[in-house]
Amino acid sequence: MLHTLVSDYQAIISAFIKHNNFGEQPTELYEPIRYILNLGGKRLRPVLTLLAHHLYKDLDHASVAVGSGIEVFHNFSLLHDDIMDNAPVRRGQPTVHEKWNANVAILSGDVMLVRAYQMIMQVPDDNLRWLLHRFSETAAQVCEGQQWDMNFESLPTVTVEQYLDMIKLKTAVLLGFSLEAGGITAYASEHDRYILNQIGTLAGIGFQLMDDLLDVYGEADKFGKRVGGDIVSNKKTFLLIDAIEEAKNTPLEDELNYWLSVTDKDDEKVQTITAIYNTLGVKDKTEQLIAKYFTDALDAIHQLEGAREDRKQHLSNYLKQLMNRDS
Ligand code: IPE
Ligand code: IPE
Ligand code: MG
Ligand code: MG
Ligand code: MG
Repeated sequence: MLHTLVSDYQAIISAFIKHNNFGEQPTELYEPIRYILNLGGKRLRPVLTLLAHHLYKDLDHASVAVGSGIEVFHNFSLLHDDIMDNAPVRRGQPTVHEKWNANVAILSGDVMLVRAYQMIMQVPDDNLRWLLHRFSETAAQVCEGQQWDMNFESLPTVTVEQYLDMIKLKTAVLLGFSLEAGGITAYASEHDRYILNQIGTLAGIGFQLMDDLLDVYGEADKFGKRVGGDIVSNKKTFLLIDAIEEAKNTPLEDELNYWLSVTDKDDEKVQTITAIYNTLGVKDKTEQLIAKYFTDALDAIHQLEGAREDRKQHLSNYLKQLMNRDS
C-alpha cells in the first residue's frame, strides 16, 4: 500500500519535472539539467511534501508544483555540492562537472535555482508570499550548512554538537521545509505546520547521519556514489568525530592522525580508516543515533492536531523506510 503510494508520488513528480520547460539553448546550460533530473534519485523531498499535503487534502496542482520545485532545488544543490566535494559519481553515473566541466555545473545549477522558484510560485496568491519567504530562509540555511561543512574539513576536530548543527542546516532544514510546504499548500494550522517542520528536521538529521554511514559502509552499486569519499576529504562526520574521541590516548590515536594527513593514497586511506572505525565500534554508535532521531521524528507525528489518522500512518511508514534504507 505504502509502496504504491510512494511510487505514485514519485511518478507524479517525475512527470511534472519532465514536462516543465527548463529551456533549450545553449545546450550546455540546459542539457545537464535534464541529465541530472532524469537520473532520478529517491525524490524523497517532494514525497514528503505530498505526504504532508495528503494528511489534510487530496493532491492538487500547487502541492505537486511546490514538491517539484523543492526537488529541482535539491538537484541544483547536488551539482554544486559535487564540485565542492570533488565527487566523481552521483546516482551511479558521472557527476555533471565530470561529464561536462565545473563552469557548466555552476551555471546549470544557477538556472535550476531560478526554475525552482518559478515552480514554487505556482501556488495561489494567498500562499505565495509566505511560501517564498519560508523557502528562501531554508535555502539560505542550506548554503550556511554547506559552508560549515567545508570549513570543518580543514579543522583538526569538531564537536558532535557543531556537527549536528551543521547537518541540520545543510540537509535537515530542507526535509523540514518539504513537510511544512505540504502543510502550507493544504492550509494546515500554524501549529501543525510547525510540527511538520520539526518532524522533517529530526528525520533529516537521522537521514544525513545515515548518508554519512553509507558513505563508509554502503555498497557503491546501491548507494550510487563513491564509497569512502568522506574519508578521502577528511569530512568531519559523526563517524570520524567519534573515532577521534575514542582513539584518544590509545595506540590508534597516532595512526588515525597520520592517515588524516595523507593526501595521495586514497584507497589505502579509506581501507585503514574504515578498519579503525571497525575497531572502535563507531558503526553501532552511529546506528543508535540514527534510530534516536527517527524515533523522535515518529513520536512528533502524534502532535499533529488536524491531520487524518489513517494518513498519518503513511507518513510514519515512509519515515521507517528511510530509517532502514541502503540507497
Ligand atoms: C543526497 O540526497 C544529499 C544528502 C542530503 C545526503 P539524497 O540521498 O536524497 O539523494 P537522491 O536525490 O536520492 O539522489
Ligand atoms: C550534501 O551532503 C548536502 C547538500 C546540501 C547537497 P553530502 O555532501 O554528504 O551529500 P552527498 O553524499 O554528496 O549526496
Ligand atoms: Mg557535501
Ligand atoms: Mg557531497
Ligand atoms: Mg554524503
